[in-house]
Amino acid sequence: NVLSALLTFFFFFFFFFLVDRFLYAMRLHDDQLRDISARFQAEMKKGLSAESNAAATLKMLPTHVCSTPDGSENGEFLAVDLGGSKFKVLQVKVRKEAGRVRRSVEMQEQTYPLPKELLIGRGVELFDHVSECLKDFLLQKKISLEKKHPLGFTFSFPCQQTGLLLNWSKNYWARGLQGKDMVNTLRQAISRGMDVDVLALVNDTVGTMMTCGFDDQHCEVGLIIGTGTNACYMEELRHIDLVEGDEGRMCVNTEWGAFGDDGALDDYLTEFDRDIDAASINPGKQCLEKMVSGLYLGELVRLVVLKMTKLGLLFDGRVTDALRTKGKITTAHVAAMEQYKDGLKNTRDILLDLSLNPSPDDCIAVQHVCTVVSFRSSNLVAAGLAAILTRIRQNRKLKTLRITVGVDGTVYKTHPQYAKRLHKVVRRLVPDCHVRFVLSESGSSKGAAMVTAVAQRVTARRHQVDESLSSFRLSRDQLRSVKARMRAGLEAGLKSNSHSPVKMLPSYVFRTPDGTECGKYLALDLGGTNFRVLLVKIRSGLRRSVRLYNKLYPIPLEIMQGTGEELFDHIVHCISDFLDYVGMKKARLPLGFTFSFPCLQAGTLVSWTKGFKATDCEGNDVVDMLREAIKRRNEFDVDIVAIVNDTVGTMMSCAYEDPQCEIGLIAGTGSNVCYMEELRNIEKMQRMCINTEWGGLGEDGCLDDIITEYDNAVDRESINHGRQRFEKLTSGLYLGEVVRQVLLDLTRRGLLFKGRVTEALKTPGIFETKYLSQIESDRLALLQVRSILQHLGLDSTCDDSIIVKEVCGAVSRRAAQLCGAGMAAVVDKIRENRGLDQLNITVGVDGTLYKLHPHFSTVLQETVVALAPQCYVTYLLSEEGSGRGAALITAVARRDQVEIDAS
Ligand code: BG6
Ligand code: BG6
Ligand code: GLC
Ligand code: GLC
Repeated sequence: NVLSALLTFFFFFFFFFLVDRFLYAMRLHDDQLRDISARFQAEMKKGLSAESNAAATLKMLPTHVCSTPDGSENGEFLAVDLGGSKFKVLQVKVRKEAGRVRRSVEMQEQTYPLPKELLIGRGVELFDHVSECLKDFLLQKKISLEKKHPLGFTFSFPCQQTGLLLNWSKNYWARGLQGKDMVNTLRQAISRGMDVDVLALVNDTVGTMMTCGFDDQHCEVGLIIGTGTNACYMEELRHIDLVEGDEGRMCVNTEWGAFGDDGALDDYLTEFDRDIDAASINPGKQCLEKMVSGLYLGELVRLVVLKMTKLGLLFDGRVTDALRTKGKITTAHVAAMEQYKDGLKNTRDILLDLSLNPSPDDCIAVQHVCTVVSFRSSNLVAAGLAAILTRIRQNRKLKTLRITVGVDGTVYKTHPQYAKRLHKVVRRLVPDCHVRFVLSESGSSKGAAMVTAVAQRVTARRHQVDESLSSFRLSRDQLRSVKARMRAGLEAGLKSNSHSPVKMLPSYVFRTPDGTECGKYLALDLGGTNFRVLLVKIRSGLRRSVRLYNKLYPIPLEIMQGTGEELFDHIVHCISDFLDYVGMKKARLPLGFTFSFPCLQAGTLVSWTKGFKATDCEGNDVVDMLREAIKRRNEFDVDIVAIVNDTVGTMMSCAYEDPQCEIGLIAGTGSNVCYMEELRNIEKMQRMCINTEWGGLGEDGCLDDIITEYDNAVDRESINHGRQRFEKLTSGLYLGEVVRQVLLDLTRRGLLFKGRVTEALKTPGIFETKYLSQIESDRLALLQVRSILQHLGLDSTCDDSIIVKEVCGAVSRRAAQLCGAGMAAVVDKIRENRGLDQLNITVGVDGTLYKLHPHFSTVLQETVVALAPQCYVTYLLSEEGSGRGAALITAVARRDQVEIDAS
């Protein structure tokens, strides 16, 4: 007896030794696991970085999920759960119970069969099936078809944040869906008669994390060990290159099943792994998944057993057909064979089912094979998890991390030893992490409902923002009608400029420059963003050229809005400084004055516009005021020859380069146009430049139908209430204010800046044109938008920044379209004036809005093309400001003067 016991012992020993040697490569000790874990960590980093993401096997896909459930989720949701071993449709009701902190969740679910052909057939058919099951579910559960049902879609495959399916995994290979948006695909498939709104696409790992997070706030990792395997976790936003933003966290779906696809696990692969891969529908893909997950574990065991049998190590070397058949040993079998008490009996039954005739030793050996294969699986998962946990701990600079991992999947749930082994190894690999593992009892859909609830809130917010911005969207018909109103305004102004909001002021500039102008001139440029004094040297003839020297002088607000005398004294002070600077105080130069306000030719200021309101100027002659101020200072003298509007100066400056330039446009602090109008009854002089002062359009209420409540607020708070209504819709001084009014409204309604109306937001003028332009720049990352907003004292989240950018976009687009409609009216008028079918004309343009804004000029030009198709308009940017034009006009006026004097 002793002898037979000893023999048995030796036999077992020998046997284990044999099997173990055979499976040596599958047994991973802790050093190897640490090595794998380190490779895994490196790969995570690679996947998170924008530069290396394309080459990384861990795709580290950002999700929309930025927090685990916070208790604010509420409502009734439908859920579809596709991609695990069961295809399910569910209804999830989340309710906050009166007087209780906890919320209750009610779920009803139905599993539907999913024929294998559908997994590898046409994608459309797969989704049609999903839709039919959904319909059946609604009918069976008597869920009302009347009201709209939000739906969360658990789709357990690698998808981008936008919903694009990157590739199939596991045993799916439905055609025509890779690279497509899965949310849209499901929306399209959902048949009519069902009012279902697909609001969120959720990976099963994320759903699982959220399900478990419902009861445990520490749950920040989701893990699936089922048909496939994968994990997600909460990563710091600042580390996720593919998503803008720097604060807070976002859940990242690692798609770790693909780890090793680049060969990173080659030294751990066995011939069985290679065989599994070769026989799969996605060879070369999902390396780790094929070593770990339920779809492959049974098959791995079969391949090992088959090989051992062929070598004569099992079943006396007798191989059966069943043993040779793919899929004959499943993961469920593996779990059964490793059952604590009945394991050997189960093994025997299973082997008998495969027409094998196992001896007791065969059963023990096969059971051992199962253990080695399933142990390797849990070891690899432990290595991956250790990498994630270490990363989280390091991210948060913690010595020890307390964290919960939410887990789901049939392997984890049904294998008798798997969970225990996994927990033990993880704790050994990362002793500085206190990990709690929580089984997701109710699947991933409860979590998907939480994500859908948040998505629903975001969608509702979107909707409200969109609605507020819709008043800024103008249809083609509305723009046509604005064009017509501008045309009517131009005509009315020509008839009687004293009563028309569009003043149509004659400039007495009769022709554009012809290159014969010459001399040295002083020019002033007042009324744009900057006040400038310039010295302009013009040469005529073959070497015709214009050279400029200029200096900028700020005009303090108290001077802009003080007395006229103070304003002109300040201007003269600047001229004096400039003359010192160029050393020409004694020269008595001829002076051209660009004065960018509505002015009669005699020099009488009709009314201040933009930010100016110095007293005692309106109705007075500004040339006289300047002359008197020069006298008061009594340091130098000049010869004031011409007073010019900036539109006219711009047109002249551009016409010096391009004789076809017969329009001047300013889209800057203010908005205005001048153009060459026909003078029918005057001989020789056929045309005269008219300063339209189009900014006044709408003062009679003709724009009221497109003016929004925000525009009215801006008008009310402006220094010229009721005036310049078109300018207030189109120019830099006001666009920022319109934006601010919209932001104020959205904030008050709780849709922005967490509902906090800050001092900054209450400050008029914070959005200067340059900030609007910067915010809307396409090249600017959201992070930079945030920093601009921060600079303006507005503390925004990323979502806030997106909304602010949209508001800016809506306001500036409308401005550009309105200017385009106005310009269309002007060019068509010129065309008709001249009796032409087609007009070729150049517009000289200036102004910070036109120059700095990334889209303004394009939108304006497109609108002109659409509304005045018979005009071919070229836009020429005035590079050096209107001072040059003013000097040219001065030169012409001076020469004309000399000619008149001579005759
Ligand atoms: C289920 C989840 O419980 O587990 C699914 O609801 C998930 O979303 C599945 O895909 C994973 O396990 P298995 O074993 O079904 O693939
Ligand atoms: C400048 C011109 O370039 O542009 C000024 O020299 C003009 O005359 C100004 O008023 C308009 O733009 P903004 O944006 O400065 O008002
Ligand atoms: C596969 C999928 C992944 C999913 C996992 C578990 O790996 O690619 O998205 O989470 O299976 O179902
Ligand atoms: C204002 C002025 C106008 C000027 C325009 C652009 O509209 O009234 O004269 O041309 O701003 O600066």
